[in-house]
Amino acid sequence: MRPAGQMWSGPALLPLLLLAIPAPLQAAAAAAATLARTPPPPPPSAAQARPSPASLPAWPGRRGVGERQEQRGPMEIPPSHYPARRASGVVGSYINYQHGGPNTIFEVRQVARASREDIAGVGHKYRLKFSIAEILPQDSPVNCTAEILYHHGDQHVAPEVHYTVEGEFGKNTEQVDNEFYNRIKNLSELLEAQNIPDSHGNITAEMEPVRNLAQVACGYVIWQNSTEDTWYNMVQVESVKQVKRNDDYLEFSYVVVIHDIVSQEVIPWHMQVLWHPQHGVKVIRNSRQPKRAAQD
Ligand SMILES: *[C@@H]1O[C@H](CO)[C@@H](O)[C@H](O)[C@H]1NC(C)=O
Ligand SMILES: *[C@@H]1O[C@H](CO)[C@@H](O)[C@H](O)[C@H]1NC(C)=O
Ligand SMILES: *[C@@H]1O[C@H](CO)[C@@H](O)[C@H](O)[C@H]1NC(C)=O
Ligand SMILES: *[C@@H]1O[C@H](CO)[C@@H](O)[C@H](O)[C@H]1NC(C)=O
Repeated sequence: MRPAGQMWSGPALLPLLLLAIPAPLQAAAAAAATLARTPPPPPPSAAQARPSPASLPAWPGRRGVGERQEQRGPMEIPPSHYPARRASGVVGSYINYQHGGPNTIFEVRQVARASREDIAGVGHKYRLKFSIAEILPQDSPVNCTAEILYHHGDQHVAPEVHYTVEGEFGKNTEQVDNEFYNRIKNLSELLEAQNIPDSHGNITAEMEPVRNLAQVACGYVIWQNSTEDTWYNMVQVESVKQVKRNDDYLEFSYVVVIHDIVSQEVIPWHMQVLWHPQHGVKVIRNSRQPKRAAQD
């Protein structure tokens, strides 16, 4: 079990987050941050580190959206300021959804460089360089180069994300994943739980993978629903119910609590999530639930 209630020593994000959210959720948020705070092991020596750039498919066709388009060049923006950090956070959510799992969580560490470009008639494109680390299982940070394009339009379109990481990315968690899978598949009653972490910020060892899976799935919701004016973070699993299936997948119905640092809103979000150790995480349905105002 993770120790709860340690002092925050990281960047200025958490105090802001803690001030803003209702008291019962503060412990949950603190515990979520504890996850992220364990220092990484020393970086591997140059001899060990063998970069093998992993790249996603090329940026999908957004070019040629009208020749009249006025293209002002990219403007450097301070990497430590929140526009750069929240854009990097959305990329981190996207990476988590692609590569995370019940025993695998990634976290954006330091933003080293950022620029923003106004693309007339389309939106804003951020170019980012940041380090990202697997915090579970713990691994040393790798550098990531990313682009994220927020569309400005009447209709919401998920930001387009493209990234490349330098070096090795993602450890093998096959054994722990299979243990979790078998444990849940073999439960005599379907799993049901509330408030992970609880109001003391505690998470039992059995519930950690259940919470991690929610965080990874929430990466999809955050990526899909982020705009340039939001900064979403998942703070708690409010409830989870396993759904019986006749195939090999595990299915969970989650209500998670998302906090928007920009608007200070606390938003419950329902997600229906499938997971299989070989096929990964998939959010098959999701819907925003009525907002709850943060209490002061
Ligand atoms: C990441 O990039 C910085 C320069 O921006 C470099 O100093 C550092 O060694 C790189 N880290 C890794 C793990 O490659
Ligand atoms: C759990 O289920 C797996 C198959 O899914 C089976 O191989 C294993 O023996 C079961 N373990 C227990 C403890 O029942
Ligand atoms: C939960 O956390 C509180 C405060 O940190 C601690 O006193 C308590 O023993 C913990 N409970 C369990 C069940 O671990
Ligand atoms: C979330 O994003 C998806 C995809 O971009 C969109 O279809 C959906 O309407 C959004 N939901 C909310 C509540 O904004």
